Amino acid sequence: MTGEYVAAIDQGTTSSRCIVFDRAGDVVSVAQREHRQIFPRPGWVEHDAEEIWANVEQVVREALDAAGADPSGLAAVGITNQRETTLVWDRATGRPVANAIVWQDTRTGPQLRALDETHGEEWFRARTGLPLATYFAGPKLRWLLEHTDGLRARAEAGEVLFGTMDSWLIWKLTGRHVTDVTNASRTMLMDLTTLDWDADLLDAMGVPAAMLPEIRGSAEVYGTATGVLAGVPVAGALGDQQAALFGQTCFQPGEAKCTYGTGSFLLLNTGASPVTSAHGLLTTVAYRIAGQPAAYALEGAIAVTGSLVQWLRDNLGLISTAPEVEDLARTVDDNGGCYVVPAFSGLFAPHWRSDARGVIAGLTGYITKGHLARAVLEASAWQTREVVDAMNADSDVALRRLRVDGGMTANTLLMQFLADVLDVPVVRPRITETTCLGAAYAAGLAVGYWPDLATLRAHWRSDAEWTPAMDPAHRERELRNWRKAVQRTLDWVE
Ligand code: G3P
Repeated sequence: MTGEYVAAIDQGTTSSRCIVFDRAGDVVSVAQREHRQIFPRPGWVEHDAEEIWANVEQVVREALDAAGADPSGLAAVGITNQRETTLVWDRATGRPVANAIVWQDTRTGPQLRALDETHGEEWFRARTGLPLATYFAGPKLRWLLEHTDGLRARAEAGEVLFGTMDSWLIWKLTGRHVTDVTNASRTMLMDLTTLDWDADLLDAMGVPAAMLPEIRGSAEVYGTATGVLAGVPVAGALGDQQAALFGQTCFQPGEAKCTYGTGSFLLLNTGASPVTSAHGLLTTVAYRIAGQPAAYALEGAIAVTGSLVQWLRDNLGLISTAPEVEDLARTVDDNGGCYVVPAFSGLFAPHWRSDARGVIAGLTGYITKGHLARAVLEASAWQTREVVDAMNADSDVALRRLRVDGGMTANTLLMQFLADVLDVPVVRPRITETTCLGAAYAAGLAVGYWPDLATLRAHWRSDAEWTPAMDPAHRERELRNWRKAVQRTLDWVE
């Protein structure tokens, strides 16, 4: 049947996925492939964009096969992606000039110090909503321009193109060099109010305009795909955290979600004007639908949550699959006095200290791998607590309920602990694939597959809810210990 489904491609930090959805917003099929994490030096993280593209083609084929559909069965495809990850490729050959520099990579410390000296952090924050941190794409692009022979001249001549992973995929699918406004808002090159590349920012960052993609809305047709999705309109794009907000149908100001993936990202819809944070949150674009003003969000970005569980699995070998962390944590009643602060990429919100380094605090001979597993899970909840505190301090209305999604929300021990430390109910929707769902929603809206936001909202249903049950005095004591452990990571400065 023609146009029966909508698909979404989620190009994430550890894997690429394709999900096919039906008109009710239910999952018809899923395919997923991991790609290599390349660590050339401590603090550096890279991805091979060619490998990622091959994986994307593969998961699209697999998801279509599993749905029993071919491209003509798709009304549209939406793209969502790990944000900030920075790529430059050759316009003529389509070959990347280097590996993509991943958002977790901390190599741009010297670039940031130079920008701080010439312009100061506030100058950037006022224009972009972002602090000077290694996280964002602009400094990564500057690093590539400074460290790749002849690249600046080629960029000025328009021979090479910059893009985050949304741009790379849309370019591979359609040949169009575009990005969506949510991804552009993570570059430090776009003005948050004009929603356009800003000449002063480009000048400060040393980035030639000729290499930049066109900034487009989040739900519009960018082009028609060839190849594996031949004939399908590529009709939506959102950074993955904004896509999850959209998939959770947080369309009203005051609605928030937190996604538990490689890192965790709490976004609060603040409506049609950007709100500046005084407490270490980012101001970012939530989405822009054609014919409507952009919606903005406040964001608490936490770099390491799920990736700490992967570290327990891959680097320490304490578990053989990520879900096993829950069983291991359940072998003990509490953390035994142990706290893990995973400042692997420095600390993100609300601290923004690229120079912080992780610690395991409170070690005694009593600590077992069970305690360590528990402390690893608790770290996700305490980091969320820090972000929620910042959000409550920034906004007039305290968060009363948190919508969650992402892989780690299958972990019921963590979800209960999260409700306990936040002291608000935590609610998980029926469909936890909200990142892909949000991208599919955007693409489906753009082509009229779904008529309006109200229709999407009607799909949302709660599947599980956890209510706080922790003794307040115990919570306060644990919070104090967590804060002491965080302080150790900030003291760890060379
Ligand atoms: O900003 C980074 C974020 O987009 C990465 O998301 O889900 O790949 O960890 P994820």
